[in-house]
Amino acid sequence: METSEIQENPVISKIEEKDVTSAVAVAGHPLHAMTVHFPIALVFITLAIDVLYWWTGDQFWLRSGVWSSGGAFLMGVAAGLVGTVELLSVAGIRERVASWAHAIAAMMLIAIAGLNWGLRVTDSIDIVPHGLLVSTLAAVVTGMAGWHGGKLIFDHGIGLMVSPKD
Ligand code: HEM
Repeated sequence: METSEIQENPVISKIEEKDVTSAVAVAGHPLHAMTVHFPIALVFITLAIDVLYWWTGDQFWLRSGVWSSGGAFLMGVAAGLVGTVELLSVAGIRERVASWAHAIAAMMLIAIAGLNWGLRVTDSIDIVPHGLLVSTLAAVVTGMAGWHGGKLIFDHGIGLMVSPKD
């Protein structure tokens, strides 16, 4: 079929007309994109800390893991709150399936990060192997959530604040 003969899907065209500009931004920079780096980094740092504890047996890594897993959870909640405002308040974001796929993966990640911290703070888990397994799961789900988040920007142009100058 010739490109000119391909019919536009009316439902998709209607969604494409809707606004996708970030609602929570500082000087044109979306706050969600600025905050997500912290939970992503801290989830992977927690996994690295668990591997170092497994390798060395040094108690220092046990204490470090409590702090990094707590930081991952709390920063994940903070990023998630901003993301939720974007999701619910911007029509073009709310009506895209990809946004909800990202939100579901992100909420799973926040729940796993909370579990990881809770088990450590209450001292109710053996880091090797159980803490290490929870950290590995958190890292995998973070990869999924982050990848879907990136798709929102790069495939759907969500959150971009392009001025007439650009
Ligand atoms: C309930 C939780 C969340 C919701 C509803 C949500 C929603 C969104 C939305 C609407 C965007 C598009 C950009 C924008 O409007 O600012 C986005 C981007 C993104 N999100 Fe989330 N998000 C949530 C949590 C998270 C978490 C915890 C992470 C960390 C893994 C994350 C990682 C990302 C990434 C990496 C991007 C792309 C940002 C960029 O490349 O600049 N999100 N998210």
